[in-house]
Amino acid sequence: MAEAHTDAPSKDDEMRLTEAEIAVHWKEEEYFHPIPKFIGQANLTDPSIVERFSEKNFPECFREYADLLSWDKYWTTTLDSSNAPFWKWFVGGKLNVSYNCVDRHLEKYGNKAAILWVSEDESEPVVAITFQELYARVNEMAAVLRDFCGLKTGDRVTIHMPMVPELPVTMLACARLGVIHSVVFGGFSGEACGARIVDSGSRVLISMDGYYRSGKVIDHKVAADIAVKKAEAEGTKVEKVLIWRRFREKSASSTPLVEGRDFIVDELLKKHAGARVAPVSMPAEAPLFLMYTSGSTGKPKGVQHSTGGYLSYVTAASKFIQDIHPTDIYWCMADIGWITGHSFIVYGPLALAATTVMYEGVPTHPDAGRPWRIAERLNVNIFHTSPTAIRMLRKLGPDEPKKYNLRFKCMTTVGEPIEPEAWLWYYRTVGRSQASITDTWWLTETGGFLCSTKPAIDPMKPGSTGPPMPGIYPIIFDENGKEIPPGSSKAGNICIRNPWPGIMQTIWGDPERFVRQYYGKYNKDKNSKDWRDWPWLAGDGALIGKDGYIRILGRIDDVINVAGHRLGTKELESACLTVPEVAEAAVVPIVDPERGRVPEVYIALKPGIKADQAVADKVTKAIETEIGKIARPRTVRIVPDMPKTRSGKIMRRVLASISNSMDYGDITTLANPEVVEQIRVQVQGAGPVEKKAGPEDIRRFGETT
Ligand code: WTA
Repeated sequence: MAEAHTDAPSKDDEMRLTEAEIAVHWKEEEYFHPIPKFIGQANLTDPSIVERFSEKNFPECFREYADLLSWDKYWTTTLDSSNAPFWKWFVGGKLNVSYNCVDRHLEKYGNKAAILWVSEDESEPVVAITFQELYARVNEMAAVLRDFCGLKTGDRVTIHMPMVPELPVTMLACARLGVIHSVVFGGFSGEACGARIVDSGSRVLISMDGYYRSGKVIDHKVAADIAVKKAEAEGTKVEKVLIWRRFREKSASSTPLVEGRDFIVDELLKKHAGARVAPVSMPAEAPLFLMYTSGSTGKPKGVQHSTGGYLSYVTAASKFIQDIHPTDIYWCMADIGWITGHSFIVYGPLALAATTVMYEGVPTHPDAGRPWRIAERLNVNIFHTSPTAIRMLRKLGPDEPKKYNLRFKCMTTVGEPIEPEAWLWYYRTVGRSQASITDTWWLTETGGFLCSTKPAIDPMKPGSTGPPMPGIYPIIFDENGKEIPPGSSKAGNICIRNPWPGIMQTIWGDPERFVRQYYGKYNKDKNSKDWRDWPWLAGDGALIGKDGYIRILGRIDDVINVAGHRLGTKELESACLTVPEVAEAAVVPIVDPERGRVPEVYIALKPGIKADQAVADKVTKAIETEIGKIARPRTVRIVPDMPKTRSGKIMRRVLASISNSMDYGDITTLANPEVVEQIRVQVQGAGPVEKKAGPEDIRRFGETT
C-alpha cells in the first residue's frame, strides 16, 4: 500500500466519506414514558444510581456491579491504572465464569430452563435445557477439552459454529477451564476463520457438520477444512478439529472426516459421560475470550475481554437495562458469533439465571410472522434485536405482530441508529405501547452498553440512544481535541473519558495498535497513570442534546456497518485484489433503506483486460470466499481509473458521493478530475445528478442538524 496507514482516524479525511458524513439525521422526537406496571416490577427504579456512579465515587462505584457475582476470592484493588491504558479491574479477585453462569444457580433454579432452543425447521420440537442439564453438558465438554484435547488455562480455541445450544455449552466449557475462546461468526467463510485461527494461535478448532439456513441444510464442515488449510499455509498447525453433529442419526455434511484430525464430539462425550470438572478459579483480569472485529486496516483485530470486569459489566447491564429477572423468558435474536450474542445471549442472561432463547435460523423463515410465533409460544417477555431486523420484519409483515399474543415488558435495539418510524412500529405494533424500549449504543470493544435509557427511570426518545450508562462519562471532541459541549448542534468524535469494567483489555498480540487506535488521537501524555488523561475513542460520530441524550451518527473510520455488522473497507478491498485481473479497488458505503449501509465496490482493471460481467462476478465471489456472504457488495463497478489525489491516494469520498447521489464537492486538486464525471455518468446515467438519497435527510458530518 502506497499510503502510510494509521489506525486512529487521521485528519486527512479527504480520503474517505465516513458513515457519519452520510448519516441520516432525524428531527427531535417527543418523549415516551414507561408504564406503571413495568416500573412496579423493574430491577432499577432508584434514580440515585446516577449519583452513586458519578465521578466522585469512581472507580469504587463499580463494586456494586462486581457484587452481583460469586467470587472465590474478593478483590483488593478496584481499578489498577499503573500500566495505563491497560486497565486492570478487581485485581486480586478470583472467580470462574462457568460457575457464575451455571453452578451457582443449581440449588434454586436447577430444574428451570437455562436455554430454550428453536430450530429453523418449524416441525422440529423446541429443545429445553435446564440449568442442571447445562451443568452436566458443560462439565462433560470441559472433560473432553481438558483430557482429550489437552487444553489448559490460557490456551486459545477457535469455535466456528451456528446457533445451536452446543455453542454456549462449548464456550462455558472453555470458561470452566480458563481456556480463551475465539468464536467466529458461523456465516464467515473458511478463509476468514483460518485467518483468525492463525492470529489467535489456536491448535484446536471446534465446528459443526451443518445447520439450517433459509430452509436448507448448509454443509458447514467444508469450512473447517478450508480454515485448517489456510491456517497451515500461514504456519499454524491445527491438531484437532472437533465436529458437533446437527442431527443425531445422520451427518449433515458430505465432507469426509480427516483421519487422526477430525473427531465427532458426541463420540468423545460418550467416553466422558458423567464427568465433573472443577471450575478453575481465575484471576479477575485473566482473558475470557477474543472477539475479532473490523477496524481501519485489512487485518481484523482480536478484541480481548477479561473475566471479572467483563462478567460484572454485562451482568449489571442485563439486570438494570434489559431488566432481566430469573423468572423472565428472554430472547435476543442476534447471533452468538457477534459480541451482542456473547454478552446478551450467553453471559449476561445466564449469570442472572434467566431463561435465554436461541433461534437457529433466519427471522423471516418461512415468513415474517416467525419471530412472533416463537415469542407467543415460548411466552417471551424480553426481546432484543437490531434495527435491520425490525425494518425487515416491518416491511415484509407490517401486521404480523397483531396476529399473535405478545406480552413484551421491555425490548432492546442495538447495532445501528434506528429511525423514528421503525422505532414507532416496534413500540406500538410489537410492544403494544406497553414495553419500555432501550436503544443501546456500544461496541465489540466495550463489552456491554455505553449509552441507553434506564427503562423504568428515563423516558424514551426515538432516534436517540439515551443518556450514558451509570459510571460512563462521555465527551465529544472536535478534530483538534476541543470539547463540543452538550446542546450544541455540532457533531464530533465521541470518547469515553474513563475506563469501565467491561472495556477490552488489549488487541490480542498487538498492544501498540490498541494504544494507537483507541487513545492515539486524544491522549496527550503517554506516561500518565491518571485515567483522566486517557479518553477512549469509540470511532463513531455523535452529538449530545440539551437533555443529555446522545445521538449516534455512525462510524468515522473505514468501517461500514452493514445490517449492524462491522465490515472493514480495507478487508473488502484486499479480497477484491485477490482477483488477478484487478489493479485497484475501492469500497464505499451506500445508504440502504433496510440494511442501513451496504458496500459498493469500484475496481480498475490491469492494462489489456476486458471489462465484462465475468470479472465483476469474480470480485463478488472473491469477497464471499475471503469474508462471507454478509459482505456481498450491492454492485461491482468497473471504472476506467480511480479518482486520485496528486500523491496517488484513491478519493473514496468522491466515489461514495457518486454512489449516494450526493454533491462530490471540490475535485480541482485531483490528479485526474476528468474521470469523476465519467464515473458519475456511468453510475447515474447522463443528465443531471439524481438525488435518490433525499438530500434534505443527508447532512455533512460536523454541520448543524
Ligand atoms: C454501531 C455492536 C447507533 C456504531 C454492539 C458502533 C450503533 C458499531 C448502536 C459497533 C446504536 C451500535 N445506535 N449505532 N444503538 N449500537 N452501533 O462492534 O457505529 O459490532 O461503532 O458492536 O455499531 O459495532 P459492533
